[in-house]
Order: sequence, then structure tokens, then C-alpha cells
Amino acid sequence: MIMEKSFEVVVFLLSFLFIATFNFSLCSGDPKVVCIERERQALLSFKKGLNDSSNRLSSWAGDEDCCTWTGVGCNNITGHVVELHLSNPYSDYGASYERSKLGGHINPSLLELKHLNYLDLSLNDFGGIPIPDFLGSFRGLRYLNLTGAQFGGRVPHQLGNLSSLRYLSLTGDYADDLGWLSRLSSLEYLDMRGVDLHKAIDWLQVVNMLPSLSELHLYLLST
Ligand SMILES: *[C@@H]1O[C@H](CO)[C@@H](O)[C@H](O)[C@H]1NC(C)=O
Ligand SMILES: *[C@@H]1O[C@H](CO)[C@@H](O)[C@H](O)[C@H]1NC(C)=O
Ligand SMILES: *[C@@H]1O[C@H](CO)[C@@H](O)[C@H](O)[C@H]1NC(C)=O
Ligand SMILES: *[C@@H]1O[C@H](CO)[C@@H](O)[C@H](O)[C@H]1NC(C)=O
Repeated sequence: MIMEKSFEVVVFLLSFLFIATFNFSLCSGDPKVVCIERERQALLSFKKGLNDSSNRLSSWAGDEDCCTWTGVGCNNITGHVVELHLSNPYSDYGASYERSKLGGHINPSLLELKHLNYLDLSLNDFGGIPIPDFLGSFRGLRYLNLTGAQFGGRVPHQLGNLSSLRYLSLTGDYADDLGWLSRLSSLEYLDMRGVDLHKAIDWLQVVNMLPSLSELHLYLLST
């Protein structure tokens, strides 16, 4: 009896030691990751093209580690920028919302962020410029939100190259055909409420081809 008890205690202590060591190595790995110089430069060029009248991006400056900048998320292990959360923090359409809108030009320097998987530019004001075609080149993008960002013109077919995309929220002037959408085979959530689809006669057929889709928001206006 006594032998058995002490055996149990040893096993308990060993597993405790194992957990303690494991946790320690995870913690000590964390603080060393800083952002990658080329990606920091790309973010600075992107910022230069933007109109940021409320200075929301004031932390985007100098030699600072860009992983600590407002709205920037990095991978903990590789240091690559993986997320850009640049939605307007105010959504009430009041004075603070107006002040905090980003606008201007979207510099293709952003393509340097090859590991980007999350891009949110919602509720800003890009003044009716079209959604840049090059957004279709972010192969790893899983989340793209351009809702209420005042993009205009035709939704670019290049977005059909975003084969990892799971969440897509868009406004834009119109979409002609939606064939490109059928290539987004990982898409789970689609919101195109701001997009005029009356020329997109294939919408039902396309939406039916998306195997993972579980949530869909569209406005279908009859003319
Ligand atoms: C920048 O944005 C502010 C507020 O949205 C606007 O008043 C100003 O005209 C814009 N400036 C440029 C150069 O677009
Ligand atoms: C980085 O690590 C923190 C905590 O250790 C975690 O909360 C966060 O989600 C991680 N971020 C990424 C991008 O992996
Ligand atoms: C996109 O952004 C809008 C406005 O910020 C938000 O209401 C919506 O839920 C977002 N879409 C997704 C898929 O998260
Ligand atoms: C992206 O899609 C467009 C049209 O849908 C196509 O012409 C182009 O070659 C694609 N680009 C890449 C980099 O695959």
C-alpha cells in the first residue's frame, strides 16, 4: 500500500515539472520577435499614400518595431505581418466617425506583406476609387472587409484569385458577372449588400457553387 502511494506522488511531480518546463520555453520564445524590415518599409509607404487626418496611425513611425503599431498584427514566431485592422473605430456616422476616416491612395507596397491573412479597411472613405486589382494577389488572405469604405466602380475580377478567403465583405458600385466569385471555394461568409448586382444575372448559380458558404447577405433590387 505504502509503495503504491509514493509512486503516485512521483508521477504527479514529474508531470508538473514537464508542464513547468514547457511553459517556460514558450514564454522565453516570445519577446524576441520583431517585425521584418522590408515589411516595416512597406507599411510606411502605404501610410504615406493615406490621408489620415485624425492621426490614427501616429504610432506608425521611425525605427519602432512595426508589430507594436496600431492595427498591425504579427505572427508570434516568424515576425511576419499577418493582420491589418484598419477599420474606422467609430461606426456611428457622427463627428468622430467623420474625423477618423482614412482615405487617399492604397499603395501596392502592401504586397510586400506576403503573409497577410486579415485585411479590414471598413468604414473609411476612399472617395469612390475602384477596389485595387492587386488586392487579388494576397494568396494567404482569409478575411477581407471593404464594407463602407467608399470604393466605387466595378468589383475587380482579380478578387477571384483569393483562394484562401473565408470572409468577404464588400461595397463597390456594381458587379457585372460574378464568375470570379465561384473560384472562392473556401468562402464561408459573403456580404455584398453595398454592391449593385442587377447586371450580375448569374448570382444565384454562382452562390450555389460555393461549397463552404454558410452566410450570405445581398440586396437584390429590381429595376
Ligand atoms: C483628408 O481627409 C479630411 C477628412 O476626411 C478631408 O477634410 C481632407 O480634405 C482630406 N484631404 C485630402 C488631401 O484628401
Ligand atoms: C501571439 O501570442 C499571444 C499570447 O501569447 C496570443 O494571444 C496571440 O493571439 C498570438 N498572436 C498571433 C498572431 O499568433
Ligand atoms: C465588416 O465591417 C463592417 C463594418 O465595420 C462590420 O459591420 C461587418 O461585420 C464586417 N464583416 C465581417 C465579415 O466581419
Ligand atoms: C488573377 O485573376 C485575373 C482575372 O480573374 C487573371 O487574369 C490573373 O492572371 C490572375 N493573377 C494571378 C497573379 O494569378
